[in-house]
Amino acid sequence: MLDQYAVFGNPISHSRSPFIHDCFARQQNQQMQYRAIEVALDSFAQAVSQFLQAEGKGLNVTVPFKEQAWSLAEQRTPRAERAGAVNTLWRDEQGRICGDNTDGVGLVNDLIHNNGVKLEGASLLMLGAGGAVRGVLQPLIEAGCRKIMIVNRTAEKAHALATHFSEILPSDQQLAAGGYEDLENTEAYDVIINGTSASLVGNLPPVNTSVVSANTLCYDMMYGTKPTAFCQWAIDHSAARAIDGLGMLVEQAAEAFLCWRGVRPETAPVIALLRQSLAHQ
Ligand code: ATR
Repeated sequence: MLDQYAVFGNPISHSRSPFIHDCFARQQNQQMQYRAIEVALDSFAQAVSQFLQAEGKGLNVTVPFKEQAWSLAEQRTPRAERAGAVNTLWRDEQGRICGDNTDGVGLVNDLIHNNGVKLEGASLLMLGAGGAVRGVLQPLIEAGCRKIMIVNRTAEKAHALATHFSEILPSDQQLAAGGYEDLENTEAYDVIINGTSASLVGNLPPVNTSVVSANTLCYDMMYGTKPTAFCQWAIDHSAARAIDGLGMLVEQAAEAFLCWRGVRPETAPVIALLRQSLAHQ
């Protein structure tokens, strides 16, 4: 039997992960099968242990199970530990369930390697302070951003994240937090990342336009068949670039694949294929 992998989520029918991992497996000549499985909301722990005790070699985990996956993991990578969420599970040689969070490194790799963004020394504005943002802050700090400002509709959540991540902040970097009202009349940022779930329903976070200039790169962690509301906002305000999260999705998958199979797939052809398939929908 082929080595078995899956992504667990609810809902899951929209997931592109089987397409991405099938591409990686073919490209790297890996004998494996990857499926999307919808798990009942109250059965996640049971489903994971059944899958990993039987033929399953590894799992991806998506909404709404990433925090539960974190709790289930007996061993966690440092970046997963601080993220409070796990999107990749496997068993080690002693049979322990191990967890990693590859979302942040996926985002950073997409920014730096696929889009030529210089994060080192950059000023970065992060919109949102939910699970998705918590999942990516450590790799962004490690990439050397000079200043990260986290803003959120509920400002206390942004402050809590800043406090949590200040523990790993090098002394020459800044981490600040606030509400959207704190952005009034501030100067433009080098990079703005939308980590809110507003794009999912076509909404925009209430962000002041002074933060964007012709040198600002805007990145939405979401993606869709057409520009997200945030990417459209960036285009309308003449930002240098507007990039959606499709590359991040493929990069986080590549990091999970590396973790399970020990080989790193080429992501560029898979991003191009996925973009093509989205264009035909
Ligand atoms: P996720 O796992 O996608 O991060 P989450 O933890 O529920 O989901 O967080 C959603 C994030 O999007 C939060 O930062 C939320 O702001 P609040 O904490 O104030 O609720 C943000 N968000 C959702 N809809 C938004 C909107 N229309 N405008 C601004 N922020 C929004």
